[in-house]
Amino acid sequence: MSFALGNLQLRSNLFLSPLAGYTNLPFRLIIRELGTVGLCTTDLVNARSLLDRNRKALELVHTVEADQPLAVQLYGTRADEMRDAARILEDRGVQALDVNMGCPVRKVCRNGGGSALMTDPAAAARMVAAMVAAVNIPVTCKMRLGWDDAHLTAPELARALEDVGAAAIIVHGRTRAQGFSGTVSRAGIRAVVEAVRTVPVVGNGDITTPQAARRMFDETGCAAISIGRGAFYNPWIFGHTAQYLARGTLADEPSLDERLAVMRRHLDLMITVFGETRGCQKFRKVALQYSCRLGPRKPFDKAVVGLRTRAEFEEIVARYRAWRERFVGADGQLRHAYRPRALDETDVERAIPVPAGPNAQW
Ligand SMILES: Cc1cc2nc3c(=O)[nH]c(=O)nc-3n(C[C@H](O)[C@H](O)[C@H](O)COP(=O)(O)O)c2cc1C
Repeated sequence: MSFALGNLQLRSNLFLSPLAGYTNLPFRLIIRELGTVGLCTTDLVNARSLLDRNRKALELVHTVEADQPLAVQLYGTRADEMRDAARILEDRGVQALDVNMGCPVRKVCRNGGGSALMTDPAAAARMVAAMVAAVNIPVTCKMRLGWDDAHLTAPELARALEDVGAAAIIVHGRTRAQGFSGTVSRAGIRAVVEAVRTVPVVGNGDITTPQAARRMFDETGCAAISIGRGAFYNPWIFGHTAQYLARGTLADEPSLDERLAVMRRHLDLMITVFGETRGCQKFRKVALQYSCRLGPRKPFDKAVVGLRTRAEFEEIVARYRAWRERFVGADGQLRHAYRPRALDETDVERAIPVPAGPNAQW
């Protein structure tokens, strides 16, 4: 379903969440090629670093025409820095901005940025108001339900942000204290939907299957959804979800050939963007993600974690294909006992372990 984000018309209401260390340009391009994603967001970018033209910050906001529409996620502690960084990004042609209100890093929170913004709606509103006044592109805000169960500030915060012109409110249905434990509270997201007047609320958390996407819409009344780990786990999820929401049918799992073709394409994009050495290094963890759905895969994983060159990838694939033959039946498919079981929501925790440290509280 198409979706209006402020003055920006999007082709669908299915968004890619920011995942620091994962949602780089090659990954976003793959996601766009495989499905009907409405909006992709970069990893979070520090506003001050962008103003300083820091090399890493500039790499994070690097984009190409095929990577549109793109939102850059900013975090920072000062409204003037966030405002100036917003202007720089608008001048660079970025289509939307997202303000991180979930960043748990102590240095950022101590100075009133990141998830500390959830505890001070007035300060958060001042920051967003400064950005909205400075640019013509939509400014969205991404938050959790609150600091902890005793401080579920998201409804109040969302209202304050709506009043200063936020174009959408993205809510991960857990508290900061919860980390990634337990399950997402769709009731908590619903409370945000009910608190605002007209601003669209985007439901986020644990959407790893088309059915989970349906539940997020049905049980929260949200206008759009945002998928993070589920997209890394299954890059086809946007197409599969769009099909399920429109027609109620589930797409077939991609074949081995399709998976290998997409993997190869992903590696080529990694190499184009980062060069062969860095591209291959960065591709290692991506390859392990794809291989989760290949069936028996030990020798593949063992080899790919040392990947150094593009040519080496083809050798690894050829050896793997030959080895995998022993698990294949007369029909050319994996024999039943070796097929990966259907995806379900409990897989994501195992498949995409949330790294210890700051990421655990996003
Ligand atoms: C490794 C990792 C990195 C993340 N990086 C960010 C980030 O940079 N900015 C942000 O707002 N959220 C970040 N998140 C949170 C996700 O955007 C999302 O809100 C959360 O993972 C819940 O959605 P999911 O269950 O679909 O993954 C990160 C999560 C993970 C696991």
